[in-house]
Amino acid sequence: MNQLKLLFTLTILLVLSSCKENSATPTGTVTDNAMVVSAREEASKIGSDIMQKGGNAFDAMVGTQLALAVAYPRAGNIGGGGFMVYRNANGEIGSLDFREKAPKSAYRDMYLDSLGNVIPDLSTLGATSVGVPGSVAGILEVHKKLGKLPLKDIFDPVIAMAENGVAVTAKQAEMLDNYREVFIKVNSDSSKFASTYKVGDIIKYPKLAQTLRTIAKKGRDGFYKGEIAQKLASFIQANGGFVTEEDLEDYQAVWRKPVTFKYRDLNIISMSPPSSGGVTMNQIFKMIEPYDIASFGHNSEKTIQLFTEASRRAYADRNYYLGDPDFVEIPLDVLLDDEYMKERMSDFSFEKATKSDDVSHGQVEIVESMETTHYSIIDTEGNAVSVTTTLNGNFGSKLYSDELGFFLNNEMDDFSSKAGIPNMFGLIGAEANSIVADKRMLSSMTPTIVERDGKLWMVVGTPGGSTIITAVAQTILNGYEFKMSMQDAVNAPRFHHQWLPDVVVFEPNGFSSILKDDLKAKGYIINEERTPIIGKVDAIRVLPNGKLEGGADKRGDDAAVGF
Ligand code: DON
Repeated sequence: MNQLKLLFTLTILLVLSSCKENSATPTGTVTDNAMVVSAREEASKIGSDIMQKGGNAFDAMVGTQLALAVAYPRAGNIGGGGFMVYRNANGEIGSLDFREKAPKSAYRDMYLDSLGNVIPDLSTLGATSVGVPGSVAGILEVHKKLGKLPLKDIFDPVIAMAENGVAVTAKQAEMLDNYREVFIKVNSDSSKFASTYKVGDIIKYPKLAQTLRTIAKKGRDGFYKGEIAQKLASFIQANGGFVTEEDLEDYQAVWRKPVTFKYRDLNIISMSPPSSGGVTMNQIFKMIEPYDIASFGHNSEKTIQLFTEASRRAYADRNYYLGDPDFVEIPLDVLLDDEYMKERMSDFSFEKATKSDDVSHGQVEIVESMETTHYSIIDTEGNAVSVTTTLNGNFGSKLYSDELGFFLNNEMDDFSSKAGIPNMFGLIGAEANSIVADKRMLSSMTPTIVERDGKLWMVVGTPGGSTIITAVAQTILNGYEFKMSMQDAVNAPRFHHQWLPDVVVFEPNGFSSILKDDLKAKGYIINEERTPIIGKVDAIRVLPNGKLEGGADKRGDDAAVGF
């Protein structure tokens, strides 16, 4: 009898402790079986419908990626690239690199003038900034290896959406208005986006529908060879760019081993180089792990100090050591060694800020925030997919092929055009990220999946350029250490530090002036005038009862859809 009592007590304790771990009541959309969270409701719905029709998370990924290219052209794309991290229902993990790469004619100093100075706009605006697109190769590779439904069943609803059109949201109308002049400058005043669009207008994409039809029919070769490839290459070159038909034909998406690391009882699975996301986040988490950050409190002075100092050190390493692993030797065994990270934090003190100049050196300007997009998917079987995809800047290079119906990336700016000179995110690069023909440019995109006690717990990621890594890390900490619901973890105010510039950037709301004054007194430099939003996180949490809670960032038009 006593034994029975003991067993009963132990069971109750076990149930209670697991409730405590995931105690936050959901505040986001909750579904029973499957969910997609993305930047547009229309795209989340396409992904969700695909799963309802019997497709898996990988089929939904293909549909969502394409739907975002239609409904969210500032970042959703077929003319850019990205990364996917997955975890199958049986716990098997993997990741796909469909990052753009440099054209074959690219070379180290291609964006410098004869005096060795960076030529303004060349790596950021128009055809000269375009890298070889990887997105179409990426989705088709995912479908080939892991998909279930016929390609046609996935493409058809997206083609229908492109033909019937998508309504312009208020945020989108403002964005299109802000960029109209530059669309005209890069393209012409007869280009599609030279027109004025207001809220509620329906934009139709018949040319994109036609391009998608060709890809659905011919697969990879429909984009990277033949008519589309020929039109695309000659369009880019006619505008002064470098991508050739041979560049397109040679492009390959690459399966890579994800970065995995433990943080307390979490197992974090994230993207490996050429993304810096996984490695840098691994360093940040390991540097903060010795401290009881939960007891410091969410966004408290001590939490901000600890996270900032870990980020400062991790980004300094990022900028020096990381690049395309197919081209550079990355000392991952040292960078991710526990002793090394402990040593990096040995001069940290809660009394006073470390100066970035003492961690390393460089000169930078203030960071401009751009656009990318992330989507998270879980299907009825429990397969999880985390994808971040980008054109780099808002609408990429702004170069729009009216004939093929899509924007082209300006990803070449993610290379370091000149060592020590910041790119558009204020990131200082080094030799490891210099331009070489066929090389992939370093990324900060951090599509991530988190296991808790060995089970799928969270799918998470965000846009935000250099701020991506810190935004993803803070969202995980919000859910785990500060016990927030998924939606609250996503909405919570964020801050960021990236070594250089030596500034802690705070979002506009949520950080008191007393807090900032206290940090200033300790030597932290704080952004006073410009307070941009940091990231736009789209995530899913698996609740203790197996249901799914979406976290669709309130900062955008993002939405969770599922069943
Ligand atoms: O790969 C990267 O790190 C950048 N091209 C991402 C750009 C981005 O997130 C812009 N979004 N706000």
